[in-house]
Order: sequence, then C-alpha cells, then structure tokens
Amino acid sequence: MSTRILVVFYSATGNTAELASSLAEGARDAGAEVRLRTVAETAPAAAIATNPRWQAYVDAGPHAELATLEDLTWADGLAVGSPTRFGGPAAQLKAFLDTTGGLWAQGKLADKVATSFTTASTAHGGLESTLLAINNIFYHWGAIVIPLGYAHPQLMDTGNPYGGSFVSRKSASPDKEALGALRIQGHRLATITGYVAAGLRTAG
Ligand SMILES: Cc1cc2nc3c(=O)[nH]c(=O)nc-3n(C[C@H](O)[C@H](O)[C@H](O)COP(=O)(O)O)c2cc1C
Repeated sequence: MSTRILVVFYSATGNTAELASSLAEGARDAGAEVRLRTVAETAPAAAIATNPRWQAYVDAGPHAELATLEDLTWADGLAVGSPTRFGGPAAQLKAFLDTTGGLWAQGKLADKVATSFTTASTAHGGLESTLLAINNIFYHWGAIVIPLGYAHPQLMDTGNPYGGSFVSRKSASPDKEALGALRIQGHRLATITGYVAAGLRTAG
C-alpha cells in the first residue's frame, strides 16, 4: 500500500500554492499517493478587492479541491502551509484546522506525521513563528512533527530548518532554491511517513 500524503494550504496571491505544489511533487517522487488541497476563502469581497493580486488569484480559481476531514483521516502524513500573517498562520487555514476537534477527540489525528511551510515578505517577518504556530496544532493532535532540518546539502545555505520557507520580496514568486527545498521537504515527509505507517501496520 502506498504512503498517503495530504498537502493542505491557504494562499491569497499564489506563493504558498507554488510551495505546496513543489512539496507535493517531492512526495510523489518518493512514491507517495498525494492529495493537494486548499481551504475556503473567508475574507469579505471588499477586502479582497483592495489587493489586485489577491483579486486576480481568487478570480483565477479554484486552485485545488477544498480539504475535508475525510482527507485528514485518509492521510498517513500531512504538510500544512500558510502565508505569514502578522507573524502567524492565516485565519482561513486556522478556520479549517479548528474543525478537527471531533477527530482529535477520537484520537484519529494521533501518529500522523506532519510538517509545515510558509512564505512571508520579509526575512524577519515571522516565518518561524508561523511554522511553530502550525506545529503547535500538530502537538495537540499527537502528531509526529518532522522539521526540514538541514537534511540535504542543498539546504545548508538557503534552507530553513523549521520548515520550507520563501521570502517574497516585492511580491516575488518562489525561486528555484525555495521550490527545491519544498521538494526535499515533501520527499522527506513521504519517506519518514512510509516508515511510520509500515510500523503502525505491523503493530496492528
Ligand atoms: C494581512 C497580511 C499580513 C501579512 N503579515 C506579514 C508578516 O507578518 N510578515 C511578513 O514578512 N509578511 C507578511 N505579509 C506578506 C505575506 O506573508 C507574503 O506576501 C506572502 O508571500 C503571501 O503568500 P501568498 O501569495 O501565498 O498569499 C502579510 C500580508 C498580508 C496581506
């Protein structure tokens, strides 16, 4: 049975979506079955209209199917990504994660392997605080948190050990270093999830 990986992201202007796609490709490279999902846009139309890039991204959608609770129960491992919003994850993503209380209460999120990724517009604008805030949810689930670390020589110069990241200066799209790091993160997530899932199946 192939390893099942869920990639869930929110994106307002496309950067996190690009990171999510690269992570998904890395997981597929490792042989995983991957579901790439987004979450509902909950911002008022008037707020979206204040930002032409946000409006254009919304108008060009939908960019992926919406994540469901069934996707979470299906997955052996997951990656969760959000743009940094005032040093934390976007409310749109949090709204979806806050629907998982029932699964949490039944222990259905325990032992999932989980990792996080983000993008911000400045290097010190809160990339790590966003990743750590997403990871806090994983701790409550009893998930097994997989950081990116410096798990590959390619990450030594530009990687972020907390999770795949991109600094989008002046609204730049993710560069090849960032996309490469996300691909490594997806491969690493799928590989480690495969080990854990096999062990859990053996343990019965
Ligand atoms: C409401 C709002 C809050 C933001 N907060 C931060 C922040 O705290 N730090 C930062 O560096 N960038 C911040 N940004 C910039 C975004 O994180 C950045 O543009 C990101 O690349 C957008 O990703 P997306 O294209 O997936 O939406 C903020 C943007 C918005 C609209």
